[in-house]
Amino acid sequence: MANVVVVGAQWGDEGKGKIVDWLSERADVIARFQGGHNAGHTLVISGKVYKLNALPSGVVRGGKLSVIGNGVVLDPWHLVKEIASIREQGVEITPETLMIAENTPLIMPYHGELDRAREAQATGSKAKIGTTGRGIGPCYEDKVGRRVIRVADLADAATLELRVERALVHHNALRAGLGLEPIDTDALLAQLKEIAPEILQYAAPVWKVMNEARRAGKRILFEGAQGSLLDIDFGTYPFVTSSNVIAGQAATGVGLGPNAIDFVLGIVKAYTTRVGEGPFPTELHDADGERLGTRGHEFGTVTGRKRRCGWFDAALVRQTCAISGINGIALTKLDVLDGFDTLKICVGYDLDGKRLDYLPTAADQQARCVPVYEEIEGWQESTEGARSWAELPAAAIKYVRRIEELIQCPVALLSTSPERDDTILVTDPFAD
Ligand code: GDP
Ligand code: IMO
Ligand code: MG
Repeated sequence: MANVVVVGAQWGDEGKGKIVDWLSERADVIARFQGGHNAGHTLVISGKVYKLNALPSGVVRGGKLSVIGNGVVLDPWHLVKEIASIREQGVEITPETLMIAENTPLIMPYHGELDRAREAQATGSKAKIGTTGRGIGPCYEDKVGRRVIRVADLADAATLELRVERALVHHNALRAGLGLEPIDTDALLAQLKEIAPEILQYAAPVWKVMNEARRAGKRILFEGAQGSLLDIDFGTYPFVTSSNVIAGQAATGVGLGPNAIDFVLGIVKAYTTRVGEGPFPTELHDADGERLGTRGHEFGTVTGRKRRCGWFDAALVRQTCAISGINGIALTKLDVLDGFDTLKICVGYDLDGKRLDYLPTAADQQARCVPVYEEIEGWQESTEGARSWAELPAAAIKYVRRIEELIQCPVALLSTSPERDDTILVTDPFAD
């Protein structure tokens, strides 16, 4: 028995959805432990495309238990719509196959409004973060501020009224300052009472279910969202998301002990992308960057924004491998690099004439860091759809091996197209 945590090791969109879907064949339980519907995970199965935001990617496989843990922030209206659209694609979702932790915070319409109002008003020192506008940050603020409404509160009208009252004292004051209308309490309560049964049918003491699953020897796959460089503590703050996204969060985010984790798989794109604002040392503003974006179809799943693209940054990935205790990586989108004459890998930074092997924390220093590159020969052959090492050109293998050396972590899986089965297994993360 082994339990596996999947985390993004860059700025998100590394291909977590594809890898989680692929691995979930080997798992019994697939659990989201942080983030919300800011995530956009794309699965391609025999040409059919599934786009998931709040639901765990394992939901597409029949006979598995999908779990939304307490570390997640959940927009109930979005979830109901997402369930309906995934059902339309022929996926079965029932209270037996989907469970939501009773202590999960709920994203309210006012969280999204606040998120978007702040972004719209951001200038100068209040610089835009480039959020997804889905209320993620404001909901996490309310959770820590002890004024969030949680799944279990939906079950009792008197509790719900108290919770809403407490939240609105805060939000109406804030809204007045931002020039937003006060919230209509009765209308909000009516909306909540209407959606309550839809959500409550999936509500469960997830901590208990997870501990029982563990004791029964079930295999648990933890599905991370976002990427380590968007982590609230270790990311490029303040241009980050509002949750801990690193592997340490997996246990807290569902109610298991940290000893439940046996293997941490970092998902790593063979180059780098970022959507939203913030530092990005290896970003390209030239034809190579355009080529990565076009070949990689680098457009955000959630907002449709063009993703910024750049060379592989081994210094950053070495750093995120350390922070999450990554045992092995799944290297994705290698095929996007087909046809380059030369590739570059960032191996460290030059900061005011001094060589650094990590990205410093201070924003001014980050801005002055100049990437130090190593050049590596590209390949002209196609790697798209390769399902074994033997199908890869020697130069591509050399590129992968060099990445392993630089990040000090082995490749466990290699992905060569969006399709589920175009995946090379090197080490099974679930193996004992
Ligand atoms: P996630 O947020 O980490 O789940 O990643 P996204 O789904 O937002 O973005 C990754 C995109 O790359 C999706 O459109 C995937 O279908 C696609 N993808 C995943 N792995 C590969 C791969 O190996 N090669 C190519 N070309 N595309 C891939
Ligand atoms: P997946 O799971 C890429 C980014 C946003 C913004 C910042 C804060 O698909 O990898 P938020 O709405 O979370 O407050 O936005 O974080 N961001 C992501 N970038 N992939 C994601 O998820 C992201 N989720 C949030 O673009 O820069
Ligand atoms: Mg994504």
